[in-house]
Order: sequence, then structure tokens, then C-alpha cells
Amino acid sequence: MNVRQPFSRRRFVGGVAAAVGALSLRSDAELFAQGQTAQFTGGDAEYDAYVKLASNENNWGPPDSVMKAMNSAWKYANRYGYPDGNVNQVIAEHHGVKRENILLTAGSGEGLNVMATTYLKPGMKVIGVSPSYASVFQQAANVKADAIQLPLTKDYRQDIGQLVEVTNRHAREIGFVYMCNPNNPTGAVVTAKEIKQLLDGIPKDMPVLIDEAYHHYVDDPAYGTAIPYVLEGRPVVVARTFSKIAALAAMRIGYSVAPAQMIRDMRIYASNSVNVLAKWGAVASLKDPAAQADVKSKTISMRNNTTKVLESWGYATIPSQTNFFMVSLGDRMVQPVIEEFRKKGILVGRPFPPMLNHMRISVGTPEDMEKFIKAFKEIFPQKSAATAGRG
Ligand SMILES: Cc1ncc(COP(=O)(O)O)c(C=O)c1O
Repeated sequence: MNVRQPFSRRRFVGGVAAAVGALSLRSDAELFAQGQTAQFTGGDAEYDAYVKLASNENNWGPPDSVMKAMNSAWKYANRYGYPDGNVNQVIAEHHGVKRENILLTAGSGEGLNVMATTYLKPGMKVIGVSPSYASVFQQAANVKADAIQLPLTKDYRQDIGQLVEVTNRHAREIGFVYMCNPNNPTGAVVTAKEIKQLLDGIPKDMPVLIDEAYHHYVDDPAYGTAIPYVLEGRPVVVARTFSKIAALAAMRIGYSVAPAQMIRDMRIYASNSVNVLAKWGAVASLKDPAAQADVKSKTISMRNNTTKVLESWGYATIPSQTNFFMVSLGDRMVQPVIEEFRKKGILVGRPFPPMLNHMRISVGTPEDMEKFIKAFKEIFPQKSAATAGRG
């Protein structure tokens, strides 16, 4: 396979970010970092009492099959990572790839960081959209690289034509393309046709990271995973996580699927620190598709019910294919609204510049969403649906 070498010698060209209307890397990355370290001074009891709709977690918790597998793995707690439930093989078989195509990471977030460390160096750039999941952009800043962040279209989608054009224009300095699909925080998908348009339109050796953290919630037939491109030997890395559909966020397990040479290049920077309970839990989750389907259908139904109520209360929502959605707050800024919800015992998503009049809500259980809707109606007056607008 012909892929650009990590740390290639492409030259830094200044001023690109400004030229394409890129948004502030720092502010996005800093907000992301703050979101990761939120503290609860009242301790566990205070935290437990909150309705948690801020971090796109799976509020139903791990299914019985996963809990059982994790509980039976305690006996290996004294071992350095083995027996591991054959986790790499199980993941490889799940995708029809080889073990050499899998990099197991402590959450998919570690995989995103490893990608940035492998394919960026000071002065180089990652290209993607904004708002999007900011972890890669934060890691770019950590390694003294930079980012080109392109704006979304008016209907909150990723503009593939623009992404292709700008990537080609600045190919020499771009280390890789980052695409979150479906995108966080909007919940919008990039279609399979658009992924092909991107991959066919950019240099054949340009690495592309496709973050499919929310893959399991999608039911739009126009969407498709990018894993077949890995099988074709294209320089594509697909990141997946057990944090969402399998409810294992705190266990820290995810993986990247990529051509073998890319996995070898990336492995150098990986921690190899996934704990034994997480490995057995992940295997159990892959072997229990019924439990995953159950979470998917409950989540979609709660999401659709909630957005319908908000729309009829007069507040537009962005169509989502994930376990979260965004609602338009009209002319209100999101930060003070987040504080109002917090006072009512509900944690909701952080600001995502430049969409500062939108609020991201993770989808929880029926009880969670009932409390959310009650609070929303207390905070926001009813408007006629016709005047809500889509802004
Ligand atoms: C788009 C996206 N990618 C990756 C992650 C990282 O998740 P984890 O490290 O828990 O797998 C998240 C977490 O919210 C996310 O939203």
C-alpha cells in the first residue's frame, strides 16, 4: 500500500487557516479540555443526583452479558493483560479484517491522539470541520501542529467539496484529514457517496481518519462505514469505541482499524494499557448484538420523542443520527442556559463555537428525558412552531 510516511517532510505554509476562514483552534481545544475535567465539589452524591445529558454517555448502563463477562475477569487482575478474551481476534473477525489491522486503545480517544502524534509534526496541519469532536485538534496543538477547520454548510453538514478543494490546495502541509461521522455535536452523517467523493478527490496517499464513535446509532441508509476502504488498502483509519453503544465509557476501550503498515506506525505511540475487565466486556458486547440493537432502538425512540416535543414547543432541532441532538435556542446564548439547567439538576452539553445559540443534549432514559423536557419548558416560553426557524 502506498501511504505517506508519518512525519514526512512537507513544508509549513503560513496563513492557510485565515485564508479558508478557519476557526480558532485554541478556543475549541480549550473548551474541550475544560469539558473533560469538570469537577463536582459536592462529591459523588451530588454527581449521582444529576440527570446526565452532557457527555453522550449511554445512560442505560452496560447490559447483563457485559457485566457478567467483566465480573468473571476479576481473577485476572494480577496479570499484565492476558488472558484477554481474545479481544483483538474477536474485533478483527467482527470486521472481516486481520489482527494486524487492529490497534486496541484505551477508548477510541487514545486512537485519535495516536493518529495525530503519528502523522503530525510541528508546523503541519490536520484538516477537518468545526464544530466537530475537538480531541484531534487538541492533540495537534499538543504536538505544536495546527489545524484547518472548515465551517459547516448552512444545514449543518460537512462540505465535502470544500474539504477536497482545500485539502488539495494545501496537501503538502496536511498530515491527515479528520472526519467525524456522524459528526459530534450536530449528529449529521456524511453519506457513503460523499466519503467516496472525498477519498477519490484527495491525493491517494493522504491519510484519512474517520471517527465512527456513533456508528451504531445510525439508521440512514445513505450512510456507510469506511471500513471497506481499509480492506482495499486505502490509507484510511476508522476509529470505533465501546463507550457509547456498549456503555463502557469509564472502562476506556476502543480501537482503530487500518492497513497493517499504518497500524505498525501508530502502535509505537499507543499505551497498550487497556485493562482486563474492559477487554472481556468488549468481547461480550460484540457477541451480544441483541443488546446493542435494544440500546439503539430505545435511544432513537427517546431522541425522536424528545425532538418532537421541543419542535411543537416552538424550538427547532437539527436532525440527528446519534444518541444526542442539538436544539436551537433562538437568540439565547447557550452558556447561561447550561447554568440554568444545572441549577435544576440537569447537565447538558458545553458550548460549541460558532454554534453558540444551540445546545447539545445527550439522549437518556425516559425518566431523564421527562425531567429535561419539564426543565426546558420552565426555562423557555412556548413559541409558535411556525416562528421557530432553523437558526
Ligand atoms: C466523536 C467522538 N469520538 C471519540 C470519542 C472518544 O470516546 P472514547 O475515548 O470514550 O472512546 C468521543 C467521546 O465522546 C466522541 O464523541
